Amino acid sequence: MATVLITGGAGFIGSHTCLVLLQAGHRLVILDDFSNSSPRAVERLAELAGLIPTGPGSWGDALRLVQGDIRHDHSLDLAFAAAQSSGPAGLDAPVEAVIHFAGLKAVGESVAEPLRYWDVNLHGSRTLLEAMERHSCRCLVFSSSATLYGYPETVPIPETAPVQPINPYGHTKAAVEMLLADVAGCGAGATAEMESPNGWRIARLRYFNPVGAHPSGQIGEDPDGIPNNLFPFVSQVAVGRRPSLRVFGSDWPTPDGTGVRDYIHVMDLAEGHRMALEALLAEEPQLLTLNLGSGRGISVLEVARAFEAASGRPIPVELVARRPGDAAVTVADPALAARRLGWRTQLGLDAICRDGWAWQSANPHGYAA
Ligand SMILES: NC(=O)c1ccc[n+]([C@@H]2O[C@H](COP(=O)([O-])OP(=O)(O)OC[C@H]3O[C@@H](n4cnc5c(N)ncnc54)[C@H](O)[C@@H]3O)[C@@H](O)[C@H]2O)c1
Repeated sequence: MATVLITGGAGFIGSHTCLVLLQAGHRLVILDDFSNSSPRAVERLAELAGLIPTGPGSWGDALRLVQGDIRHDHSLDLAFAAAQSSGPAGLDAPVEAVIHFAGLKAVGESVAEPLRYWDVNLHGSRTLLEAMERHSCRCLVFSSSATLYGYPETVPIPETAPVQPINPYGHTKAAVEMLLADVAGCGAGATAEMESPNGWRIARLRYFNPVGAHPSGQIGEDPDGIPNNLFPFVSQVAVGRRPSLRVFGSDWPTPDGTGVRDYIHVMDLAEGHRMALEALLAEEPQLLTLNLGSGRGISVLEVARAFEAASGRPIPVELVARRPGDAAVTVADPALAARRLGWRTQLGLDAICRDGWAWQSANPHGYAA
């Protein structure tokens, strides 16, 4: 059992990971500024974990919630203190590890506002690393992304594939990966598995396409405005918030002509974080870089048909031109995560659509309703 600081723990992937970690007996402090999430996600995940509130932002000796920005030393120090303090204010246990989800993630927005993306994603990560040094915590799981691979040259994509992002969001993730390699003492030649001469324990987890929701339908993805990703869009069509699904490109070199991606159920992803965290804490200092994906490709039209079946609602499809910046096929080679962590995805497209629909149909307007 460890005490873990979760930045961005109220967000989509963070909230599901917090639930899995609490159920495994870990104690958590969540630091989130709610710029893209709601405190309700934390209340709901605490309830799903069977926790009883004991005060504002406080659930016994299991969970604390701190509202603040990762770019501010003061917020970070408050979060570390919420773990260490004794009495009702704290968990009475110093932070042993950090899982760092907080960040901005919309590719299009990153093109329009590159400075904000560099500030939150890179400056925020550096400020966090400095706080970790101040508080003698040298164990970090970082949310990286398959977007680093750009237009992949080989599919399925191994971790050794070239890092060649094609947009500002991807550049910020690549920059943080490099920063982490330097902090670990592994430098530019960092490969997927390296010892850390500096005594850091770091996992850089490259997610493919996280989708779905907790099977209870109580927590899920709640994008602001028009969704950037396929699944939230499809589920909003099914629930009647949008008239049809626009499919960008039907002439890709794929079996049905639409783009192929590696979709991973968010509960599988949450398990991957738990396993990576526990491996880091148990093993010698290291820098570990892992793809988290299923290894299976699914096309846009397959997603639309599977969501129709799960929801019993029609998903009208409108085929339009390709979008600049998209790749035809992006699929992970997840063999290294299987070997190092014993982790593999357990949940397929049917479970993804069933659970995604459970969330969307019970919460048509997300946490706002
Ligand atoms: N969802 C995806 O498709 C995907 C894919 C690959 C990588 N990632 C990465 O995983 C991480 C989590 O993604 P998500 O889908 O859960 O996103 P999300 O937006 O749902 O969660 C991010 C959380 O961080 C918080 N946050 C943002 N800026 C902050 C700041 N300055 N200080 C404190 N909190 C802040 C937001 O309020 C939100 O709760 C991100 O770093 C993202 O880049 C996501």
